[in-house]
Amino acid sequence: MVIKPRLKGGLALTNHPIGAKEFVKRQIDYVKSQDKYEGPKKVLIIGSSSGYGLATRISLAFGAGAETIGVAFEKGVEGKRVGSAGWWNTIAFNEAAEKEGLVSKNFIGDAFSMEMKDDVIKFIKEEFGGKIDLLIYSLASAVRTDPIDGVTYRSALKSTTKDITGPTINFEKEVMEETTMGVATPDEIRSTVKVMGGEDWKLWIEALDKGGVLSEGFKTVAYSYLGPKVTYGIYKEGTIGAAKRDLEHTSDVLNDFLKEKYNGEAYVSLSKALMTKASAVIPIFPLYAALLYKVMKEKGIHEGTIEQKHRLLTQMVYGNNPVIDEERRLRPDNWEMREDVQAEVEALWDKVTPENFKEISDYAGAREEFMQLNGFDFDNVDYDADVDLDELAKLKP
Ligand code: NAD
Ligand code: NA
Repeated sequence: MVIKPRLKGGLALTNHPIGAKEFVKRQIDYVKSQDKYEGPKKVLIIGSSSGYGLATRISLAFGAGAETIGVAFEKGVEGKRVGSAGWWNTIAFNEAAEKEGLVSKNFIGDAFSMEMKDDVIKFIKEEFGGKIDLLIYSLASAVRTDPIDGVTYRSALKSTTKDITGPTINFEKEVMEETTMGVATPDEIRSTVKVMGGEDWKLWIEALDKGGVLSEGFKTVAYSYLGPKVTYGIYKEGTIGAAKRDLEHTSDVLNDFLKEKYNGEAYVSLSKALMTKASAVIPIFPLYAALLYKVMKEKGIHEGTIEQKHRLLTQMVYGNNPVIDEERRLRPDNWEMREDVQAEVEALWDKVTPENFKEISDYAGAREEFMQLNGFDFDNVDYDADVDLDELAKLKP
């Protein structure tokens, strides 16, 4: 079967397994080109198969020699359907890790369930040396079934103030178009907090603590985004912003608990805007990202997912140069948020039109990044070659 890209707005309907291998390899190559670092030895990553979670796993394994457990929600081959990008990323990671003798174990399923927590804890106890040093929480999801009340909550990407209309990029049609984000009901805000807030992170820490699998000095970091003024309406003041504030509150609660019991730490880290499966579907965000890339690349301070997470880990979480704000949040988004960067992004934002957006933004770069998340647009992958799905179907993460 020859696999071609098919898009629907900001969603990729297909992905390329051979391209996924290249996607993972390039991130590994980056980490190997950098100095090794002293980091954690045993790590659990929730949301390990794509975006920031995957980059974190690659940095920790190939940069610090960590053994990793990944939890992700992904699909394999079903009939003529190729499976999800995160499925192939995980298989590619495993193959590369195995070659270097790095232990990597995966749990594919619902991280929000108690069953998943029990399975992971059992594995840590019986086959992973009994304890973990670090938990990274990098989930992005639209639904969560609360394991305690059994209710399924759906997150909404909405405003909490007023209707927000603004331009975005449609990668399918390759046009800049207006999108409107409606106002959330109180119920939609509450549901989004249920899905993307800190409740599940806390349940993980409580379960791991009860299971006796946290080491002395244990750390946990949850990923979040804040963003600048131009995206406040959709992010900071949106439903997602409400959820992220809940996450920050949770980090303080967990920090107190972990400090007391394990001499440990809990942080939220605010990362830079990047194209991922999750961010590509947020209204307005892709255009902001394309303008931001233009400015940051011109200034020589652009980072992809791997550069961003490698800097967070080597400089901040396991280094001596943490950038922490007054709200105790780690700030690897500090270059994105620089005043000169934001002033230039704002100037472009005022100038950008459906006619000029491809020229004045880094549209090509943002689109390439989006395609590469799904294994496409690598110059050294032959996309006309036949992909043997039956063979690939035998592989499991
Ligand atoms: P992503 O879509 O690439 O990754 C999400 C991960 O969550 C995947 O591994 C997926 O399999 C997993 N997942 C989703 N539902 C699950 C479930 N029920 N059970 C188990 N695993 C599940 O997204 P991303 O952009 O890497 O986002 C990760 C975190 O980083 C989010 O908290 C996001 O807010 C944050 N972040 C993203 C950006 C950005 O610009 N992309 C910026 C700053 C912070
Ligand atoms: Na992730």
